[in-house]
Amino acid sequence: MPAVKLLAFSGSSREESFNQRLLDHAVHAAQDSGAEIEAIRLADFNLPLYSQNLELNAFPEDAKRLKELFRTHHGFLIASPEHNGSITTLLKNAIDWVSRPTDGEAALALTGFRGKVAGLMSTSPSPFGGLRSLSHLRQILTTIQTLVVTEQVSVPLAHTAFDGPELLDTMPKQLLPPLVNRVIQLAKVSA
Ligand SMILES: Cc1cc2nc3c(=O)[nH]c(=O)nc-3n(C[C@H](O)[C@H](O)[C@H](O)COP(=O)(O)O)c2cc1C
Repeated sequence: MPAVKLLAFSGSSREESFNQRLLDHAVHAAQDSGAEIEAIRLADFNLPLYSQNLELNAFPEDAKRLKELFRTHHGFLIASPEHNGSITTLLKNAIDWVSRPTDGEAALALTGFRGKVAGLMSTSPSPFGGLRSLSHLRQILTTIQTLVVTEQVSVPLAHTAFDGPELLDTMPKQLLPPLVNRVIQLAKVSA
């Protein structure tokens, strides 16, 4: 059976992002479990704000490139910062572009999302750790046919939970391996 291939990304473009640091821990846990991980930064993709006119007349090359990455992986590890109780514009914009059909696909083909598996995590300086962004993200991904595993990790008080790249909070260290292992286990079905 081929190795499970997971795409890892966060919804933050901030240098020193807490969510990127949390994602890095999840990536290591997934690598320890034998998954093949491609870690990307959404901000490295030149994605204009989604517009249906652009989609029809000049579908961005980077949106196609990102969609191809989604299409060729079995699942996703996503760390989602919370902005005003929801996911960031960066993340929503990427999801919207990747959800669109390309090259003669049917309108709802959803080749970047359908049948994929996602594991979600968040962290924020608040006591809720960005939890509300995860309920929105879960709903969005479910709508576009991605199976979101029931395990998830939210790390509160991000400013004290990390020391540089290190996680001082022991809770996420315990919860990340079961989360990534569930993603790997379910992604194996389509591998
Ligand atoms: C526009 C904006 C809205 C925010 N709204 C929330 C919020 O609703 N809940 C929350 O916990 N933190 C909120 N924050 C704070 C972020 O959680 C904080 O900036 C965090 O560091 C972002 O994650 P990152 O470090 O991975 O970029 C907000 C920040 C910004 C810039």
